[in-house]
Amino acid sequence: MRQRKVKNEKARLEAQKHNIIFNAKDLKGKWKEYARDELNQDLVEVYLEIGCGRGQFLASIAEQYPNNYYIGVEGRSSIVLRALELIDEKKLNNAKCIFSYIDDITEYFDRCELSGIYLNFSDPWPKKRHAKRRLTHRRFLEGYKEVLKPGHFIEFKTDNDDLFDFTLEECAACGFKIVECTNDLHSTDFDARLYITEYEKRFMLLGEKINYCKIQV
Ligand SMILES: C[S@@+](CC[C@H](N)C(=O)[O-])C[C@H]1O[C@@H](n2cnc3c(N)ncnc32)[C@H](O)[C@@H]1O
Repeated sequence: MRQRKVKNEKARLEAQKHNIIFNAKDLKGKWKEYARDELNQDLVEVYLEIGCGRGQFLASIAEQYPNNYYIGVEGRSSIVLRALELIDEKKLNNAKCIFSYIDDITEYFDRCELSGIYLNFSDPWPKKRHAKRRLTHRRFLEGYKEVLKPGHFIEFKTDNDDLFDFTLEECAACGFKIVECTNDLHSTDFDARLYITEYEKRFMLLGEKINYCKIQV
């Protein structure tokens, strides 16, 4: 995602720090408790979006499901800032961000702590020598399997056909089940219950087809 220079970035980030989870690694094994306290409710399902960008998807889904807790992870400061400001603008108490690049999800989450993971328009890393950086490389998939509850899911969307093919191959190698799959999301009825992301909107305007799959672990 292109990073534009943002006015008063430092001061604006400071003003949004209540929506940043600073001690994310310390919360490993305690996310349920954390989300329960935040929402003041007994049972809370926790969901994660890796590479949440400016937070459109995160804020929409959190707004729709106020009893679930949504965590967005984003490594670029000017971009996470927009996600934080959106959460604030919408007065959401069930969404927050981790401001970091995640490399090993198991440093942050313990076994079975998450009910779902969203990967929307992940960076494709087209060069073969960078394959390990792709968020659907098997080293990431094995981590997702550990932190997701059994039978739960990863939802993946991309405009990039090569990344999509790679993802399906990696899922097969890890023994994951693909329960929904299409090369043209918006010609199916899966899209009725999915939330459009900023990148998705851009690609749709260009008339590009969106690949989508739902992966069960
Ligand atoms: C192409 S953008 C897509 C943003 C958004 N999901 C959307 O669909 O509009 C990918 C984003 O993922 C972030 N990103 C990539 N790898 C990441 C990682 N390992 N941890 C956190 N964020 C990451 C990038 O900084 C970038 O903002």
